[in-house]
Amino acid sequence: MSKSKNTKLKSLNRRQALTGTLALGAGLALPTRFAIAQAKPLKLGLMLPYSGTFAQLGENITHSIEMFITEKGGKLGGRDIQIIKLDDESKPELAPQNADRLIKRDGVDVLIGTVHSGVQMGIHKAVTESGTLCIVPNAGAGAVTRNLCAKNVFRTSFSNWQPAYGMGVALGKRGVKKAAWVTWDYAAGAEAGAGFKEGFEANGGTVVANLTLKFPETNFQPLLAQIPGLGVDVVGSFFAGGGAINFVKDYAAAGIKVPLTGSGFLTEGVLGPQGAAAEGIETALHYGDGIDNPKNTAFRAAFKTKAGREADVYAVQGYDAAQLLGVGLEAAKGKIEDEAALYKAMREAKLDSPRGPVSFSKSQEIVQNIYLRKATGGQNKVTGIAVANLADPGTGCKL
Ligand code: BEZ
Repeated sequence: MSKSKNTKLKSLNRRQALTGTLALGAGLALPTRFAIAQAKPLKLGLMLPYSGTFAQLGENITHSIEMFITEKGGKLGGRDIQIIKLDDESKPELAPQNADRLIKRDGVDVLIGTVHSGVQMGIHKAVTESGTLCIVPNAGAGAVTRNLCAKNVFRTSFSNWQPAYGMGVALGKRGVKKAAWVTWDYAAGAEAGAGFKEGFEANGGTVVANLTLKFPETNFQPLLAQIPGLGVDVVGSFFAGGGAINFVKDYAAAGIKVPLTGSGFLTEGVLGPQGAAAEGIETALHYGDGIDNPKNTAFRAAFKTKAGREADVYAVQGYDAAQLLGVGLEAAKGKIEDEAALYKAMREAKLDSPRGPVSFSKSQEIVQNIYLRKATGGQNKVTGIAVANLADPGTGCKL
């Protein structure tokens, strides 16, 4: 909720705000400005990439948000929902003005966004200044639920640390000793690398090299050329979307014998175009193929009907962002201004997620299983759990 909306609400007395009427005399009541506002659709801004290397990620998040709202008859907490979409192009430099357009020009009540960690930091500044409720449906930027955490910001996806930490733990426990890390040079790649290193080195491994290239470049040859000379047992990585397709194909084409692994975004939603190059790649993520629960079965069937393709982790995260908003609005009876009811319900939410059991930490970060998966015949088959109920440490968060 914006500070100005908050001030308007406070100018009504509490009884008027709760009943939504002004008594004019015996038996006669007119709706207050507040009641009229409640009858208006709730404006939901989607700031996501609809172009560039992460376009399909943004589309899948959008499909499943729309899907959930349709499942609820077009209303959440009794309010009609009006969606306003903005393509953030995964460009951090445009993020402040794009977030401002949604918040100040379009007057959105809630902002769901985004995918790219750098863009997220622009959104984060705008929503913490305005007080607008923000639900993060992908970007894993650590600061959002660590030192810069805020009571109006929730995340239904992951922190960059989480899946990579899980992969590092699993490899270390298996007795793997030396690894290299390869990624794009931006927040998500660096934070995932830190998570991988922490999990791996706490379990007896050592990360001996960190190879990077600029986001969203895909000229991987200079990095790939270095790998055989490093003497490592495994290569950990963070890439996603279109870049991940190219990286996996180029890695296979280079004939490198060192097993490739990493945060599961490497093979998530992109196994089709990666083809045989991805076969056998092991990764860790909070979702995978073959998770056997009724919610997942129904979700996957509905998503396929809507989007014409299989669901992936991005679709799950978007669906859960909409579910979380639904929980909050239900508790607040559609009054987005009722922050106490809204945020309490969201913090305590135990969503019926397609990924399995989830809850929220004190820093409003999702707590979830990190699954081990192996790319097999076009699926990221779940083979086990790397770390159960993994919570981000939330370092520096004072909520
Ligand atoms: C990120 O920038 O946080 C990110 C982008 C794509 C997949 C996962 C994380």
